[in-house]
Amino acid sequence: MRVEVLAEERTRTLRRAVLRPDLPPDAPLPGDELSGGVHLAAVDGDGAVLGTCFVYPDPCPWLPERADAWRLRQMATADGHRGRGIGGAVVQAGIEYATAQGARLLWCNAREPAVPFYQRHGFAIQGAVFTNERHPIPHQRMWRELSPQTRASND
Ligand SMILES: CC(C)(COP(=O)(O)OP(=O)(O)OC[C@H]1O[C@@H](n2cnc3c(N)ncnc32)[C@H](O)[C@@H]1OP(=O)(O)O)[C@@H](O)C(=O)NCCC(=O)NCCS
Repeated sequence: MRVEVLAEERTRTLRRAVLRPDLPPDAPLPGDELSGGVHLAAVDGDGAVLGTCFVYPDPCPWLPERADAWRLRQMATADGHRGRGIGGAVVQAGIEYATAQGARLLWCNAREPAVPFYQRHGFAIQGAVFTNERHPIPHQRMWRELSPQTRASND
């Protein structure tokens, strides 16, 4: 398995299946219209996309003065392939990619069950669990600092 940058169309099927099964098959997902970032994908030897995430420059809502903020979004590992380190490899690749682009802060709105996963990758909780119109299932704001000197892995 390798993690590489892919066009958003190549990861869309997996993102929809895991994160937005309510959307019609050909519909873009929220965020597909954004530029400046990349979709990273874990690809197996047969070319199947088993895991993905999206990282892009986006101001952090609770630290708006930070001009070096990027957002992590749409983390997904294919059903039947979880718990084998694929998501970990993908989030590390996202951390490394954003850091290489000059990001020094990475934030996300994490689905509540994924909070321990993000904590293992250096993210801290910000505020309380929330739901709203755009996030009808419970989410938790999370973030971490990035440093070119810091190893991306669980530091
Ligand atoms: C969150 C998600 C992306 C994690 O992907 P994953 O491929 O399962 O991630 P990993 O395998 O690296 O880690 C998952 C767990 O497996 C464990 N694990 C990692 N490598 C492992 C291995 N080789 N053997 C056994 N367990 C392992 C880790 O301890 C980790 O536990 P944690 O969740 O308590 O941190 C995946 O669960 C998912 O797609 N969930 C549904 C969508 C979702 O909620 N996405 C997040 C939106 S914010």
